Amino acid sequence: MYRNIHFKRVMSTLLVGAMPWVATAADTTPAGQLAHWQAQAGAPASVERGKVFFSEKTGSDLSCASCHGAPPTRPSRHASTGKAIEALAPAFNPARFTDTAKVNKWFTRNCKDVLSRECSAAEKADVLAFLISLKP
Ligand code: HEC
Repeated sequence: MYRNIHFKRVMSTLLVGAMPWVATAADTTPAGQLAHWQAQAGAPASVERGKVFFSEKTGSDLSCASCHGAPPTRPSRHASTGKAIEALAPAFNPARFTDTAKVNKWFTRNCKDVLSRECSAAEKADVLAFLISLKP
């Protein structure tokens, strides 16, 4: 009996502790992110532009594809550290574009690495339209 009550208390502590994490980890969707960036850009996204942008090396020896692969539908490797990177296209990796903070953090960091500046809303919308267009 005592063990059972103890078990329940431990379980409820774990669940409550996990809830804030769940709430922030899945707060958006790929379609929601696309709508957000299109609205900010004030123009519809283009799959074709996104595809070119993803593989283009402008101003550095890196493109998005250098780390995320071409097409970004399979696990890939970081261009300098060799660390494994899971597929970026959401149809191949359901965790992608579900966490606003993660999306923003990596768009900022990766765009600076590739372009030496942040990506515009239109560029983010185009990349996302391209990634969403990739289907198994
Ligand atoms: C130098 C290597 C590198 C380059 C180049 C790179 N990325 Fe990344 N990217 C990463 C790593 C590392 C992560 C974080 C680990 C992970 O999520 O698998 C990441 C994660 C992301 C995410 C987070 C997606 C999510 O919801 O999980 C987005 C968006 C992204 N990258 C977009 C881009 C775009 C757009 C470009 C080109 C402008 C680009 N990346 C170029 C290494 C790179």
